[in-house]
Amino acid sequence: MKIDLRTIPDAEVSGIDLMDVDITLPAPEAEPQRQYYFMALLKQQLVPERAKKNGKEFLTACITTFGCQMNARDSEKLVGILEKIGFVEEDSEEADFVIYNTCTVRENANNKVYGRLGYLNGFQKKNPFMMIGLCGCMMQEPEVVEKLKTSYRYVDIIFGTHNIFKFAELIVTRFESQRMVIDIWKDTDKIVENLPNDRKYSFKSGVNIMFGCNNFCSYCIVPYVRGRERSREPKAIIREIERLVADGVVEVMLLGQNVNSYGKNLEQPVTFAELLRKVNKIEGLKRIRFMTSHPKDLSDDLILAMKECDKVCKHMHLPLQSGSSRILKIMNRHYDKEQYLTIVKKLREAIPDIALTTDIIVGFPGETEEDFQETLEVVKQVEYDSAFTFIYSKRTGTPAAAMEDQCDPAEVKRHFDLLLKEVQQISAKKAMALEGKVMEVLAEEQNTQDASLITGRLSNNSVVHFPGTPDMIGKLFMVKLTECKGFYYLGEIAENA
Ligand code: SAH
Ligand code: SF4
Ligand code: F3S
Repeated sequence: MKIDLRTIPDAEVSGIDLMDVDITLPAPEAEPQRQYYFMALLKQQLVPERAKKNGKEFLTACITTFGCQMNARDSEKLVGILEKIGFVEEDSEEADFVIYNTCTVRENANNKVYGRLGYLNGFQKKNPFMMIGLCGCMMQEPEVVEKLKTSYRYVDIIFGTHNIFKFAELIVTRFESQRMVIDIWKDTDKIVENLPNDRKYSFKSGVNIMFGCNNFCSYCIVPYVRGRERSREPKAIIREIERLVADGVVEVMLLGQNVNSYGKNLEQPVTFAELLRKVNKIEGLKRIRFMTSHPKDLSDDLILAMKECDKVCKHMHLPLQSGSSRILKIMNRHYDKEQYLTIVKKLREAIPDIALTTDIIVGFPGETEEDFQETLEVVKQVEYDSAFTFIYSKRTGTPAAAMEDQCDPAEVKRHFDLLLKEVQQISAKKAMALEGKVMEVLAEEQNTQDASLITGRLSNNSVVHFPGTPDMIGKLFMVKLTECKGFYYLGEIAENA
């Protein structure tokens, strides 16, 4: 008996064999059943047919991901769907299906994509069955889609950040219509659960706890391209992590643009601190990380939860953006320098060995020498373990783009170099302080340059290379940090943790 997907409950649909689905029935209306129907259609019929026409045994796909952890996780979902329908992942852009999952947070992220598209067109001319797919944040900008429609006609599928769950359906539409398929949603309040995904690492995984952003920092395009903030139900998150753990995952990274406002809009509100406590109870899970924590919503209870929960890593990424209260106000960040420093103090009091990392923007409109000096001062005072520094990039449509006093590029570059030097010096000093210590390391991968070494991470996120074998991957070890090499350590196993 073939399966009628319309009769399968949500939680069971991911377990069915696509080859058993009855594809002669109409497509279900409900999600995720509808997508499983299209996956079955592709797997049973459309993908093998296309491979045959192309004279191949199977078709290959290659996804390139730009941008942040959100995009990385989205790409895993796309790969999950591709694998389900019979594509084989290939690490080359000569694949039969090349997908760019794009980022638009800064202008240069954006430009890279256009450059590479021209180059892809060359491959497509050699392989007429090759498909090009574009998705991600850049596609949420109407000007980008207009430009693609007029100047990049050879792109096959374009979709946005809100409808990646529809990937299978879009591929079917493309196969059936032979035309450029464009499907962009302005926003959504929908969260589709129980879709397939494929992890890049067997032992660790990102887990979305929320989508979108409501903060509208005045320089940032993310709220426009990722839509309004939506939290997933704690039950769905816990269930996903339990499944991941059963499948060998020992570390999760809880993902959200502002995890500190997690759960506020749920029918039964839950705080991020409460969620952490729930996740911490999951048996078999070893490490919990999260990103990103907006200082304005960081509660005392979260600090307490971090202190109490043994699995939560001793690391907090706490974007500063600027050390000048005047600039922070214009950035619409809702905290000032003093409030930021108070949070740092509280975190260090509660968790003395916590690592702090940050993001800083240089050259925000109207930033003066004085403002910059304040940023430098906070950097010196906090002593970040590491910091990502960015030159302000004007994003059309954001309030900051319309501000008149854009900074002089030469001055911005000078400030940027000064800041980078300071940040690097401090990082090196902080790293050096751990030399000689024995610390817990999660073995993550075989070293690419020296196969006798295993590369792992400390709870504070620093990288350690130590002699070992691939069977150690995914396990925890006590490692002596024998030598600090600036940004990473060389170590040797002290004992099995
Ligand atoms: N939600 C996260 C940040 C996501 S974007 C947070 O609020 O911390 C990652 C980083 O990119 C930001 O922290 C910011 O430092 C940087 N960024 C965002 N917009 C930018 C712009 N227009 N120019 C330069 N850097 C930017
Ligand atoms: Fe952008 Fe601010 Fe939202 Fe972060 S919190 S994604 S910086 S608008
Ligand atoms: Fe870029 Fe989108 Fe992330 S714009 S930084 S990929 S949310």
